[in-house]
Amino acid sequence: MKIAVVGTGYVGLVTGTCFAETGNQVICVDIDERKVEKLNNGIIPIYEPGLDVLFYRNVEEGRLKFTTSLIDGIKGAEVIFLALPTPPGEDGSADLKYILKVASDLGPILSQYVVVVDKSTVPVGTAEKVRAHIAEHAQVEFDVVSNPEFLREGVAVEDFMKPDRVVIGTRSDKAKSVMNKLYAPLVRQGNPVIFMDERSAEMTKYAANAFLATKITFMNEIANLCEKVGANVDDIRRGIGTDSRIGKRFLFAGIGYGGSCFPKDVQALAKTAQEYHYDFKVLESVMTVNNLQKTKLLPQIKDYFGDDLKGKTFAIWGLAFKPYTDDIREAPALDNIKALLAEGAKVTAYDPEAMDNVRNILGTQINYAHTQYAALDDADALIIMTEWPLFRTPDFEKMNLLLKNKVIFDGRNVYELETMAEMGYTYYSIGRQA
Ligand code: UGA
Repeated sequence: MKIAVVGTGYVGLVTGTCFAETGNQVICVDIDERKVEKLNNGIIPIYEPGLDVLFYRNVEEGRLKFTTSLIDGIKGAEVIFLALPTPPGEDGSADLKYILKVASDLGPILSQYVVVVDKSTVPVGTAEKVRAHIAEHAQVEFDVVSNPEFLREGVAVEDFMKPDRVVIGTRSDKAKSVMNKLYAPLVRQGNPVIFMDERSAEMTKYAANAFLATKITFMNEIANLCEKVGANVDDIRRGIGTDSRIGKRFLFAGIGYGGSCFPKDVQALAKTAQEYHYDFKVLESVMTVNNLQKTKLLPQIKDYFGDDLKGKTFAIWGLAFKPYTDDIREAPALDNIKALLAEGAKVTAYDPEAMDNVRNILGTQINYAHTQYAALDDADALIIMTEWPLFRTPDFEKMNLLLKNKVIFDGRNVYELETMAEMGYTYYSIGRQA
């Protein structure tokens, strides 16, 4: 099939590359000339494990191309994916200006039946708006389908190629058969393609992310309570996760969820609820708790060092909002760094992938170390913000020589309590005893 993907951000680039991998002719369109030039020169603008192999193979074999021209990109396409940003507007609702602009531009240039697919996370009712914008100037028949994407950063290729499910919102049989054909190679293991109407598909995406954010937040509150009652959240996780109704995943307590999706989508769903005069109390609590959770180690740091942190130096391991990504959007590490700097402390940070992105924001306000150990040199304490595997089994002897005090504040529960105690560390973590 011939496919166009408009928007080469995270979702667009993975979608385009993976559909090229399943044998389609894919053209990705983006208005950012520098980005398209980079892509045409073989430079992938994001860090995503496994994407490079597929990208280079498909570019080389001529199935994956990039252009800034919408009209060239969509020529002959049977399916046009819209994978455009939906940033939160000032009031928290998703801003649709990019999607609706492209929809308006598409109308006059469509020359044959096409399925236009909303891949971005968009509020309920967007497919209807996209349809209306295209219809204003369209001369041909078309369908608009909502096909939300559930991939996770860091495992995006695997999630895309082996989805747990594919959700397709459309009432058009013609569009259904086009989408079925396109997804057939990805659902061969029996995972379902679930058809529904457009509004339900749009809502499904928000419900999934909001549910997962709630699940994490619930565990974070259990962890906070564990600290007070003297219980261990790791044991609670194992104790409840084996109940298949609860499930083992997304039960890891920590310093809160971040990233480009959960915070934005929970906020947008809460906004939708408000617009429809529904008081979605759970979501409001999830947002409040998560904001508090992000800096929950700070009182413990003060507990150890006293209220005055001026002149103290903290080593931070991990800046990305989670491992296997260089993404720092809504990363708890940033909140913590800002809080420490506001207290007059100094920060030396290390992250295997995300340092350039942080440097672009914080510049010389903090120091950047070349290795995880260099970050510890002369530091008063270590703070762990992201559970990169590299941090799980460090050379503790080396650490002991570098750190001024044997104290670790761990926001991701990376180490066993017993190991820390045996080595004589004062070890603060989440929902476990110090
Ligand atoms: C999330 C969803 O998992 C994807 O299904 C969805 O497609 C994507 O948002 C999106 O809407 O585009 P992602 O943001 O890449 O994916 O990252 P996750 O792996 O879901 O992690 C989100 C946050 O939750 C991270 O900050 C992570 O540290 C935190 N988390 C996750 C926990 O604190 N505890 C857990 O047990 C799991």
